[in-house]
Amino acid sequence: MPRHGSQTGYTEAIEHEAARRAPGRDMGALRRLLPYLLRHKGPLAGAGFFLLLATAATLVVPMAVRGMINYGFSPENADIINNYFLAMLGVAAVLGIASAMRFFFVAWLGERVVADLRRDVYNHVTGLSPAFFEVTRTGEVLSRLTTDTTLVQTVVGSSVSIALRNLLLLVGSVTLLVWTSPRLSGLVVLALPVILIPLIVFGRWVRTLSRQSQDRVADTGAHAGESLNAIQTVQAFTHEVIDRTRFGGAVERAFRVAVRRNRARSLLTAIAFFAIFAAVVGVLWAGSHAVLEGTMTGGELSQFVLYAVFAAGAFAALSEVWGDLQRAAGATERLVELLDVEPQVTAPLEPVAMPHPPQGDIRFEHVTFRYPTRPDSQALDGFSLHVKPGESVALVGPSGAGKTTVFQLLMRFYDPQSGSIAFDGVELKTADPTELRQRIAVVAQDPVIFAGTVRDNILYGRPEAGEAAVTDAAKAAAAHDFISALPEGYETPVGERGVTLSGGQRQRIAMARAILREAPVLLLDEATSALDAENERLVQLALGRVMEGRTTIVIAHRLATVQRADRIVVMDEGRVVATGCHDELVREGGLYAKLARLQFGANDEALGRRLGDSAAE
Ligand SMILES: Nc1ncnc2c1ncn2[C@@H]1O[C@H](COP(=O)(O)OP(=O)(O)OP(=O)(O)O)[C@@H](O)[C@H]1O
Ligand SMILES: [Mg+2]
Repeated sequence: MPRHGSQTGYTEAIEHEAARRAPGRDMGALRRLLPYLLRHKGPLAGAGFFLLLATAATLVVPMAVRGMINYGFSPENADIINNYFLAMLGVAAVLGIASAMRFFFVAWLGERVVADLRRDVYNHVTGLSPAFFEVTRTGEVLSRLTTDTTLVQTVVGSSVSIALRNLLLLVGSVTLLVWTSPRLSGLVVLALPVILIPLIVFGRWVRTLSRQSQDRVADTGAHAGESLNAIQTVQAFTHEVIDRTRFGGAVERAFRVAVRRNRARSLLTAIAFFAIFAAVVGVLWAGSHAVLEGTMTGGELSQFVLYAVFAAGAFAALSEVWGDLQRAAGATERLVELLDVEPQVTAPLEPVAMPHPPQGDIRFEHVTFRYPTRPDSQALDGFSLHVKPGESVALVGPSGAGKTTVFQLLMRFYDPQSGSIAFDGVELKTADPTELRQRIAVVAQDPVIFAGTVRDNILYGRPEAGEAAVTDAAKAAAAHDFISALPEGYETPVGERGVTLSGGQRQRIAMARAILREAPVLLLDEATSALDAENERLVQLALGRVMEGRTTIVIAHRLATVQRADRIVVMDEGRVVATGCHDELVREGGLYAKLARLQFGANDEALGRRLGDSAAE
């Protein structure tokens, strides 16, 4: 895993992850599924009804058997016996239909609950602030969305119903056991602790191991996700062998924990089966003596034995699904954990409405900001900047000066620790982030291209835009020509993350997307850094038109590209160190003059002026 430098670092990360998740997992987590179930009252009622009906039908069988045995051995009872057999047939029919209906409803509920849950988790996670994704691996979230929801599905769609059916059967059988023969039932009660204690003890153990096993599986997923997403980097640094070894290690750890879990579960099953059957044999032995002494009929003993077998079977089935339920409780907890993450940036309950029409007025006042993952270093340190509507401002400064951070705060991905940021006169914290972001179009430092066609990617800026608008935006971004030359023009699929395009092409598509958005504020972060001089000049020219009547903030390292701006703001270490136009700043002789000298060479003034002229053409 690239993020963790060494093997030990990686192992530690996993250990840490497991430890962080370990506490407080119990069956109670399953309660959080209740609201999801209660949303579908009809199927829930159907499932409950048929569950009861099927259990009742099962519990009637031993009574019929008692009748058959008690009456069945003398010829004068032929009519009675016929009735008993007919009744049995009826019971079988009810049992069949009720079981089928129960299965249908329960499976439906399982699928439905998981579909709702998946959607809710996704909806919630897509609303979380970037800060959340700085500390959580995307693979981890994905594993919860897929593996954990599937686990919940098995449980709601089958295990819960098996558990409920057997629980009912158990309660019913035990009640009828006592009703059939209190004395024999007393014996069973004596045997109970022998059965229950090991089950409880082993159950705990299985639960711990299940949780560990899940966590390890999630780790392998996260690991694979990260290296596969960056496969070119992995191969370029010939890192495959190391990655394979690490992935192999993670897989083996997952396997070993799974084996330990299964061993524990096998033991649990063995103990359960033996204890229960031993108890049945013991009771049967006592029962046979009762029949011999004449205190019980043969039919009654058969009935008792059948109920005992039902109860034992129900118990065994419960212990089987107990593990599943526990795994599902863990899975539910992991999902609920995601649902419970509060976004750090939230819309206020009653957001202040932003003025209409939008103006594009931006004001930073004494803003101090530290990234949540790096609380010791100030990304912005008393940063103040006012950009008037329609103005274009260039932000320049060395790498790490805090330029991109300014954009991130303006889009309210983070809130500053002190100072204030206002958009069109409205304090960002009091505005609705969605409304704010609708007024901003951004080309990010490494633009994201989605799998899909070129058109899809441009339309991303404003999905309802028409055909002509897409072409216009592409032309304004100097992208129309190369797009038309692609094999299928605007319908050409670009591959995952736009891998079939060059860096400059990706930038221009991202630019077209931002232009299409027609927002009053345009933010360009190194938007032309991957372009050759000719294309950059074309984009700059086109941007001149786009920028008219819009507030624009441009970040650029190449000073030649920023000279069109009304004002150049020089940043260093999170502060504004100078403001002015190119000539003024060069004359001042500060950081900007140094940068200009480095870029334009010795006779910087002349070259700078020439570039300034060309920009003004
Ligand atoms: N998500 C983050 N979490 C923690 N620190 C961050 C994060 N993003 C940036 N930083 C830190 O904040 C500081 C400012 O970063 P920023 O991205 O704003 O720089 P920049 O001026 O855009 O640089 P560049 O020209 O290289 O893009 C840097 O020291 C950087 O390491
Ligand atoms: Mg940057």
